[in-house]
Amino acid sequence: MVKRPAANPRRRMLLLKTAIWLIGLGPIVWLTVGFFRGTLGVLPVDTIILVEGRWTLVFLLATLAVTPVRRITGWNRIIQIRRLLGLFAFFHVCVHFLAYAGIDQLFAIGYIIEDVLDRRYITAGFAALVLMVPLAVTSTKGWIRRLGKRWRKLHRLAYLSASLGVLHFYWKVRADTFWPLVAALTLAALFAVRLAYRKRTPKKIVRK
Ligand code: HEM
Repeated sequence: MVKRPAANPRRRMLLLKTAIWLIGLGPIVWLTVGFFRGTLGVLPVDTIILVEGRWTLVFLLATLAVTPVRRITGWNRIIQIRRLLGLFAFFHVCVHFLAYAGIDQLFAIGYIIEDVLDRRYITAGFAALVLMVPLAVTSTKGWIRRLGKRWRKLHRLAYLSASLGVLHFYWKVRADTFWPLVAALTLAALFAVRLAYRKRTPKKIVRK
């Protein structure tokens, strides 16, 4: 019998990372081309905000899916793509926010603050963005080392940020709630898997 060579894990990881880069940058390329060719509809800024908002959510949920997938499949190397996914979520939310603040509101700080305070869906979205800032800043190896155990605690904020992002989506769409509900269920399922595995892992015995 001919023995098939084992798939090279490094090569597999490289392919996966390349795919994430392509998917992560794809929407920006698509929007830029569409913008200059005039194919983004009557209000291109609305298309930019919508597309970038949706990709933010996709990358946020993908980031949160890494640990549950790792626990279920035992594929430990998958952890290597978590940071990349998280940074793409942050990148897309920044474009989403800048399109809103810069093109839609022309950086009129007063109007933006008024929106953040008065429109509940903007309040939720803005809070989600604010929570993502410390997560992106502390995603480097240096910060992981410096914060130690506190890093994990801090990065649990990703669940809160994603919940606010989903709420923002739900409040924004008003009538057609199908996709916000799909996002909410996905988030709940990821959280449930995480909790289930946490209960299974015995706590370390603390020696006095
Ligand atoms: C984690 C953070 C965020 C996520 C996941 C997110 C996600 C989304 C999604 C999915 C949509 C599309 C709704 C639809 O299909 O109709 C959307 C729309 C929108 N978002 Fe966000 N968003 C976030 C943060 C923000 C922030 C910080 C702002 C501004 C302060 C913002 C402003 C808007 C606006 C104005 C729209 C509506 C665009 C329009 O109808 O033309 N979002 N967001």
